[in-house]
Amino acid sequence: MSAFSLVGEVWLRPGKDDALRRRHPWVYRGALARPLPQSLGPVAVFSASGDYLGVGLPSSSSGSLALRMVCFAPEPWEPSTLHQRLQGAWRLRKRLRIVSEAWRLLHAEGDGVPGLVADVYGRYLVFELYEPLWELYLQLLAEVAMSLTGARHVLLRRTYREGVEVVKGDLPREPVSVREHRWRLLADLAAGQKTGLFLDQRDNRWLVCRNSRGTRLLNLFAYTGGFAVAALLGGAETVLNVESSGRALALAQQTYVANGLPVREGEFLQGDAFTVCRRLAAKGEQFDWVVVDPPAFVKGPGQETRGLSGYRDVNLQALKLLRRGGMLLTCSCSARITVEQLEGALLAAALDAGREVRVLERRGAGPDHPVSLFCPETRHLKALWCAVL
Ligand SMILES: C[S@@+](CC[C@H](N)C(=O)[O-])C[C@H]1O[C@@H](n2cnc3c(N)ncnc32)[C@H](O)[C@@H]1O
Repeated sequence: MSAFSLVGEVWLRPGKDDALRRRHPWVYRGALARPLPQSLGPVAVFSASGDYLGVGLPSSSSGSLALRMVCFAPEPWEPSTLHQRLQGAWRLRKRLRIVSEAWRLLHAEGDGVPGLVADVYGRYLVFELYEPLWELYLQLLAEVAMSLTGARHVLLRRTYREGVEVVKGDLPREPVSVREHRWRLLADLAAGQKTGLFLDQRDNRWLVCRNSRGTRLLNLFAYTGGFAVAALLGGAETVLNVESSGRALALAQQTYVANGLPVREGEFLQGDAFTVCRRLAAKGEQFDWVVVDPPAFVKGPGQETRGLSGYRDVNLQALKLLRRGGMLLTCSCSARITVEQLEGALLAAALDAGREVRVLERRGAGPDHPVSLFCPETRHLKALWCAVL
């Protein structure tokens, strides 16, 4: 039996096939007429009236998501289907002319592979699985992706399990150095966050680089200092990095060295960004630029109100620290928060701070993170580039 052999059938309850007919790839447990088959593998999905709708991969989590559709009728689910998806994703990236050695090859729903991400870091390729059943296809995925990209080493990370596994080649002994625009970034592929770097922010780092000459920048939620090196190489005078992870900050310092930048004492603050901001404001510190790139404050249903108050608070702190005429890049990577909601949180913060904020651009992830029009919920990163008076 191959990984493409269907292990059973799933029937939907009456009226629950609308979303699939609109090619939305998620099926919730409440839509199923009967529980999922016990065997682990792809299943054929039928409407209550017996129409074949396509093939789904059952979710192994106990959450509300039951299935992720990997193809819609009449497309077959077979090795050539996956091969073509990878080739399509590769061809698209080639056309995008991404200015980086690190880029996203597969962006889950946006590339027709829901629950699966693959990032390229030079000669390394890192798969990140959100759904264990993708492990059935890993060897095939690795072989095809290696032949397309020229990667020599393939690593596997999972959102549902700690650690990293080597699929092909070797684990890097040190952080992998990749060139992006004018700078180098160091990626800890084995233990860093996500697959190593936040590749979705590449174009926003470039924006900061181009607009930071002569400025004093506050880099909140700095991780490994990507925005900081972009700003410094763009002519910023100083950058203060604030980050809760000591490991990330240590790599940020190495990243400075890799870019020939001096590592100055006091420019890497380990701590809680909210507390640090209040302390900086109490000391009367002021900045020309503030980057706010927090972790997702809304991770699941029911967290929206609390999460939005987090966005409001962090932006209030940022506004208090900005000089008149300063610039703000404020981000949310919560999929459940829309750009309008982020603007609402910023509006509330601006009123509290008594500052006028002008949105120069609504921004998001780079084009190697495509969003399926059929599944807009997967638009994670929203960013607002603002002038603050
Ligand atoms: C979305 S990532 C930032 C990515 C970074 N801007 C980049 O471009 O590489 C969020 C970061 O915030 C850090 N973090 C989480 N909670 C924090 C807090 N309360 N204060 C400071 N940093 C925090 C995480 O460790 C993570 O590195």
